[in-house]
Amino acid sequence: MPVNLSGKSYLRLLDFSTEQIEYLLKLSKNFKDLKRTGTPHRYLEGKNIVLLFQKTSTRTRCAFEVGAMDLGMGVTYLDPGSSQMGKKESIEDTARVLGRFYDGIEFRGFKQSDVEELAEKSGVPVWNGLTDEFHPTQMIADMLTVKENFPTGIKGLKFVFFGDLRNNMGNSLMVACSKLGLHFVGCGPKDLQPEAGLVDTCKKICEETGGSVTFTDDPKAAAKDANVIYTDIWVSMGEPEELWAQRIKELEPFRVTKDIMALADKDAIFMHCLPSFHDTNTTIGEDIAKKFGVTEMEVADEVFESKQSRVFDEAENRMHSIKAIMYATLR
Ligand code: CP
Ligand code: NVA
Repeated sequence: MPVNLSGKSYLRLLDFSTEQIEYLLKLSKNFKDLKRTGTPHRYLEGKNIVLLFQKTSTRTRCAFEVGAMDLGMGVTYLDPGSSQMGKKESIEDTARVLGRFYDGIEFRGFKQSDVEELAEKSGVPVWNGLTDEFHPTQMIADMLTVKENFPTGIKGLKFVFFGDLRNNMGNSLMVACSKLGLHFVGCGPKDLQPEAGLVDTCKKICEETGGSVTFTDDPKAAAKDANVIYTDIWVSMGEPEELWAQRIKELEPFRVTKDIMALADKDAIFMHCLPSFHDTNTTIGEDIAKKFGVTEMEVADEVFESKQSRVFDEAENRMHSIKAIMYATLR
C-alpha cells in the first residue's frame, strides 16, 4: 500500500513506521532537488500555517517559514511572548481557536504533553518543532544527511552520540537509529542516561530492523570505527543556567576532539543539530570562558571546522525535510 500521511500530526518519530520514515526521506530528497534546480513547487497554495514558539530558534523557524512560502502557503509566527497561550488561555482553547484559522500548526515548547494536546484538540496536523523530550523534525534532516554521505545504505552504520544522553536529541537519535537499523551508541555520564522505558522500546524496534542500542562511558571505545559521531550542547533550552558548572565538569570527558575523530572510521562524519558552543563567539561562550576557562565545549573548534564536519549540510536539510513533512501531512 502506498504511504499516506495526509492529515496526520508529526509529534514523535516513534509514531511512524520505518516505511513512513523512508517515504519522508525520499520526499525530502525530491524537495531538495526541486529547490536546487529552481523548480517551483507551490503545491499547497491557499493553505495557511501558524508557528508557535515558546523557546527561541533559528533553523526550525526559518525552515518552516521558507518551506511554507516555497509551497505557496501563508505563515504566521507567534514568538514566546506574543500570544495568549499559557498565561491567559489554555493550550486546549488555543488549539480550538487556531484549528479554525489554520491548516497546520508548528509548536516548539517544553512539555511533550502540550504538543500532543494541541494535536488532539485543534483538529489539524501539528508538527513538533522540539520539546524537552523529542526533536522529531530534526531526525529527517539528520538521516537525510547520513544517507547523502553513505549512499550505498545506512543500515548497520555505527552512530555514536556523545553527551547528555537523556536530552531531546539523545532520545530522538536513539529512536531514529533504531527505526532505520543503525547501531546507536550513547556515550555519556552515568547520571545523564535516557529513561529505561524508552530504551526498552527502542531495543524492541531493533529486533525488527537489525539495529542496536548500547551505552558506554568510555569515549575511546565508543568512537572506535564509528561512521557517524554526533553531539549536542550540554545545557538545553529551558534548563537553568546554574547547571553549566556541573555539566562542564561531568561532560568535559565526552567532548568530541580530534583524537576522538581519529579513532573513528576513516570516512566518518561529524554532525551536530546546532547551535554549537565550539568557540567563544557567543555571549554564553564568552561568559563560560571567563567563569570556567573553557573555550570550546561539546566539540573542539578544529573538529567543527574540519572536512569531516557536515553541520551546515545538516542545517540546510532542515528546510527540505520540514517542507516534506508539511507537504506529506497537508496534501
Ligand atoms: N537545530 C535546531 O533546532 O536549531 P534551532 O534551535 O535554531 O531551531
Ligand atoms: N538539546 C538542544 C537542542 C537544540 C536544537 C536544546 O533543547 O536546546
